[in-house]
Amino acid sequence: MTSCERWTLRTEHTSYTVRLSPDGPWAELDAWGPLGVEDGPSALDWSRRTHFITPADAAPAEYLPQGQRPFTGAELVVGHSGDQRGVWWEFAGAEQDADGLRLAFTDDVAGLRTTLCYATVPGTDVVLRWTELTCTGDGELRLERLDSGAVTVPVADGARLTYLTGQWSQEFTHTQLHLRRGTFSMGSIQGVPGHAYAPWLAVQDAALPDDGTAPTYGIALEWSGNWHITAEAEPGGAVRVRAGRVPHEGAVVLQPGQTLATPRLACAFSPEGTDGLARVWHRYERHLGGDRLHRTRKVLYNSWEATGFDVHAADQLELAKVAADIGAEVFVVDDGWFTGRADDTGGLGDWYPDPAEFPRGFGRFVDDVRTLGLGFGLWVEPEAISPNSRLHAEHPDWVYRVEDRPGRLVRNQLLLDLGRTDVQDFVIGTFDRLLTGYPIEYLKWDMNRPPTERGRPGAGPADRLDLDAGHVAGYLRVLDHLRTAHPHVTVEGCAGGGGRIEHATLARTDVVWPSDNTAPLDRLAIQHGFLHAHAPHVMSSWVTDSPGVFDPRPRSLAFRFVLAMCGVLGIGADLRSWNADQRAEAARWIARYKEIRDVVHHGEVRLLGTPKDPTCGVQYTEAHSSRTVVAGFSTGVLDGAPLVPGRPARLRLRGLDPAAAYRDEDTGTHYSGAHLLHYGLPFAWTADHDARLVVLTRDQARTGPLDPAHHP
Ligand code: DGJ
Repeated sequence: MTSCERWTLRTEHTSYTVRLSPDGPWAELDAWGPLGVEDGPSALDWSRRTHFITPADAAPAEYLPQGQRPFTGAELVVGHSGDQRGVWWEFAGAEQDADGLRLAFTDDVAGLRTTLCYATVPGTDVVLRWTELTCTGDGELRLERLDSGAVTVPVADGARLTYLTGQWSQEFTHTQLHLRRGTFSMGSIQGVPGHAYAPWLAVQDAALPDDGTAPTYGIALEWSGNWHITAEAEPGGAVRVRAGRVPHEGAVVLQPGQTLATPRLACAFSPEGTDGLARVWHRYERHLGGDRLHRTRKVLYNSWEATGFDVHAADQLELAKVAADIGAEVFVVDDGWFTGRADDTGGLGDWYPDPAEFPRGFGRFVDDVRTLGLGFGLWVEPEAISPNSRLHAEHPDWVYRVEDRPGRLVRNQLLLDLGRTDVQDFVIGTFDRLLTGYPIEYLKWDMNRPPTERGRPGAGPADRLDLDAGHVAGYLRVLDHLRTAHPHVTVEGCAGGGGRIEHATLARTDVVWPSDNTAPLDRLAIQHGFLHAHAPHVMSSWVTDSPGVFDPRPRSLAFRFVLAMCGVLGIGADLRSWNADQRAEAARWIARYKEIRDVVHHGEVRLLGTPKDPTCGVQYTEAHSSRTVVAGFSTGVLDGAPLVPGRPARLRLRGLDPAAAYRDEDTGTHYSGAHLLHYGLPFAWTADHDARLVVLTRDQARTGPLDPAHHP
């Protein structure tokens, strides 16, 4: 390879090196991995023998337009000057400072300046990438494809892709495939990231074992609208992954002088498999939380599963009383509290408490809840509108609609065009009225239907309006307003479960609702997938009744508590029907959770096994504390137990000091770190004992071998 310009970005433990290609005017990946990986010939270098394709097609390019890269997939497709398409650019300079890098390329014929932008994120192993596109000519540009970036991973036998799939009530299912050749693509054109795929991907060389030692590359797209992630296994022994928003309704039009920034693509690396990569993402999401990270996430009670749309003050207060007795800290009234909301056919848009359900006034009701020692929270679905609402009668033009076409209902409702400033102002005004009118400290923002007829009558051709970006901008503007005008309010993000979970939402909310499915064994799998991409301090999780709405496979109350304690604990059961023993047990779990939630929310997570194993768990070890919390679950059949001889199940812990001594706070059992790492923590399951929360305290005074008398 001839010498060329190179730039290296360094994170806590990784380097990301980009070079100007020796083969043409484009940037390409030189090295990405642990610090120092850039010292040596690039592992992405290639033979330079191209047959039937161009060098740009074979290069590990960071970003190339159609035109310059004709055959193997371009990140940018631009129409300009009448019918011409394609971009051929020249390198126009680099700027690097301590936190980032900008590489500019210009095409004077098209009138386009493209800047590839890179930024490191302090305290993490994440490099953010995005692209800025400026129309420098006299004519408008039509951006038909405008990805955020591409990354290339060298592989020996294709790639193992790990991704998170599902549908409503089955979100975040951990899924893998071996991509030897060809294209894998996932995404959403539902105006939100959707339930089918999370905008997140992990890539490994499939020739390496999936045991926590394989170098693992991850990307995640910060965009609450339409998106895609596409991986292409190339003939030359590399997998190239492109990601970005999808201008599904047409092209994005860039007028002369305008600059557009694509969504940010977060790129993460870990040498410790997908489990290690999860820790990189968790740390990044803690960074996104900013100062709010250290606010205690309260134990909530939510009445949705208990009362559905039948919200009456007396029933809610009965629930609130029991919730307070067992130790909940905030009470959230879900759907059904506002006028016209007897079921899902009406009410959305008319955000006024229903006087028939709160006969002594809503303010009085909120005060009654607060007198029990609980904070008060409310559910809203601000983008939604019922066709028979007063809001719809007053503003039929606020709804997405295609002229002369019928509007379709999904869940009996329509969707407000949140890209309109007047609609955003209405939503902001609604929030301000509710949040200043009542002492509300918790807001659950739900969204239960995707846009179907995407048009804005009277505003011109919809294929030039970029309604997707308009909706995203409106959504983020309202969330930002909540943060600045009502900083005391905890915001939960929800879209019919986990339909809108990505970094833009996570940066502006405190918790998210991964799925409506709270059935224990289903939830275990959902949380297992979720924790690969997202941190426990954002993972809202409820204990609900058994058997649940979704999953009749019974599990103990302990199982349901330990599972919900793996994130931000909430209760969603109908507590009115719980007997004294159940309530007492719940109170014990909640008290225990309050003692250990700091470790769960701020500790380093290690996923122990998978929900397909008979025993699996999650380990949380707080870096600067002496405590490790392990949630252990029995997922399997217990035929014959405990009548047949057998040994307890074991979960081998990780990341502990082998020479240190650890004590189980409940049983007093002592273990050496070596024992926990080598043999593992024992779990003697029985038919009734199917989950355990173990709190291990590191004994600061004792290291080295333990007194054999205390050995299990
Ligand atoms: C969907 C949410 O995911 C549920 O938790 C609940 O809030 C319902 N909507 C209410 O309609």
